[in-house]
Amino acid sequence: MTILDLKRLVKDFGGLRAVDGLNLSVQEGKILGLIGPNGAGKSTVFNCIAGVYPPTEGEIYFDGTKINNVKPWNLCKQGLARTFQIVKPFSSKTVLYNVMVGSYVTTDKRSVAEDRALAVLETLSLLDKKDIKAGNLTIADRKRLEIARALATEPKLLLLDEVMAGLRPTEVDEMVKIIMGLRDSGMTIFIIEHIMRAIMALSDWIVVIHFGRKISEGTPKDVASDEKVIKAYLGEEYGVS
Ligand SMILES: Nc1ncnc2c1ncn2[C@@H]1O[C@H](COP(=O)(O)OP(=O)(O)OP(=O)(O)O)[C@@H](O)[C@H]1O
Ligand SMILES: [Mg+2]
Repeated sequence: MTILDLKRLVKDFGGLRAVDGLNLSVQEGKILGLIGPNGAGKSTVFNCIAGVYPPTEGEIYFDGTKINNVKPWNLCKQGLARTFQIVKPFSSKTVLYNVMVGSYVTTDKRSVAEDRALAVLETLSLLDKKDIKAGNLTIADRKRLEIARALATEPKLLLLDEVMAGLRPTEVDEMVKIIMGLRDSGMTIFIIEHIMRAIMALSDWIVVIHFGRKISEGTPKDVASDEKVIKAYLGEEYGVS
């Protein structure tokens, strides 16, 4: 079943067409990967979906409803959560506090918010750091905290924007395991990532964009061997013969 559907999505910034007639859909329970060169329009696609920017043209459907002009806060309440490419925790507050801010999007009860936050922290192996100030976390833990805050809202669809950027190889492996675990627990995930081995391992389906346009889509194996993708983005070394 389709949970997110973009129909001919266009986003202009002044004279710049950042997203140019993009059609794509995310299937429930699957991981969709979005890749493409720097400046291709990937984060802009997420910002349109999450209600940060109104689309210039086209339609966005989430869970069967058109959400073109719904505000981010309300989308989050409806079950659409996202992380930001630049992580912005409340640095002087504890890890637990930061995650509870997510819980409060969908509950008013402190005990529910706290229990949910603790459960999410356990899933992300952050429970032992719950009382540390967010500003004192390593980059890898900050990226996990960002996911934890999104998960604490109990989303139906999770948008992850480069949650592995800046991580060491072993930390990338751990993050891949965490995201696979989320998918196995039934979460639907739409992920932007430049680290190819991670996106290839995780995605059920990949959409490739270049100058805001879809240039390819398919299984990881299919897109990795697509000449257009190799030329525009991957370079020869990723090509699968
Ligand atoms: N708020 C904005 N105002 C004006 N131009 C913008 C804005 N946000 C993005 N752009 C431009 O839109 C284009 C797409 O940017 P976007 O951030 O979506 O790319 P991206 O694919 O996420 O790139 P990266 O891989 O580097 O994160 C770029 O040319 C960028 O400069
Ligand atoms: Mg981006």
